[in-house]
Amino acid sequence: MSGCAVIVCGVFISSDETGAVWRYGNGVGELKMSIAFVAGATGYTGRAVVRSLIQAGIEVHAHLRPDSPRRAQWTARFQEWGAHVDTTPWQPEAMKERITELNPTVIFGCLGTTKKRIAKDAAEGRTSSYQIVDYGMTVMLYQAAENCAARPRFVYVSSAGSKPGGEGSYLGARWAVERVLCEGSLPYTIARPCFITGPDRDDDRPAERLGAKISDTMLAMLGVLGAKTLQERYRSTTNTILAAALVRLAFAPEAADQIIESDGLR
Ligand SMILES: NC(=O)c1ccc[n+]([C@@H]2O[C@H](COP(=O)([O-])OP(=O)(O)OC[C@H]3O[C@@H](n4cnc5c(N)ncnc54)[C@H](OP(=O)(O)O)[C@@H]3O)[C@@H](O)[C@H]2O)c1
Repeated sequence: MSGCAVIVCGVFISSDETGAVWRYGNGVGELKMSIAFVAGATGYTGRAVVRSLIQAGIEVHAHLRPDSPRRAQWTARFQEWGAHVDTTPWQPEAMKERITELNPTVIFGCLGTTKKRIAKDAAEGRTSSYQIVDYGMTVMLYQAAENCAARPRFVYVSSAGSKPGGEGSYLGARWAVERVLCEGSLPYTIARPCFITGPDRDDDRPAERLGAKISDTMLAMLGVLGAKTLQERYRSTTNTILAAALVRLAFAPEAADQIIESDGLR
């Protein structure tokens, strides 16, 4: 194999003449091409993860739900970027079969619903909730990956403030997913970002943007007063900054089985 070789975050990575990226697990013996599966790929964070992975030369399978209203648009966009499009239905057996067949090196869980989406789904006669989407689908994906020969790293986009909560709770659902990962058998990296914001979101989220602005302003004032650590931890981020960090951490041995707070995601 000719081409170039680099060390990224302690992992020896080389690229052959085809441009494929090969990862040497511990530098000795283990040689495999990195394959990433991204769930929630159409989301603000997920799409940036897809791009970042492609830029790193990794084979990417961008998942979108088969009933996505923007399926054609996203299929075209992902293919143009160089990603494979995966439309496996959110059903345990189908997902298990697909993930086993694909045998990815890393899986990104970037999906989640919002209060607004839950209300919209209800108005259109569909049942959705944090329990069904944020918890249920992420755990379905995790369980689908448990028997994979590659023992993929599961990179989960959780949230700052993740804590135990009741069934309808957003942060409670995040916490419950985190528990599954921490108690499971696969390597994981849990990311807890604060506000993920930017001018190029598809959906207008005025409350989220205002929240990010207020909190960033207050944190900047606290920063001036010396509370730099607090400011660094809780200030907002963009999807591209977060995605670059997630991709870096996904292949970093020291980030295996770790929970990374917001300040570690830049
Ligand atoms: N936004 C923030 O400030 C923030 C802060 C901390 C943590 N987080 C968490 O970080 C993750 C990424 O955030 P984001 O803002 O990038 O999310 P986003 O833009 O709202 O994207 C959400 C993703 O989840 C998918 N999804 C939603 N409902 C679904 C359903 N019923 N069935 C299947 N797929 C569904 C969407 O697919 P479709 O395109 O098909 O709908 C989309 O790919 C989320 O889990 C979020 O809770 C967000």
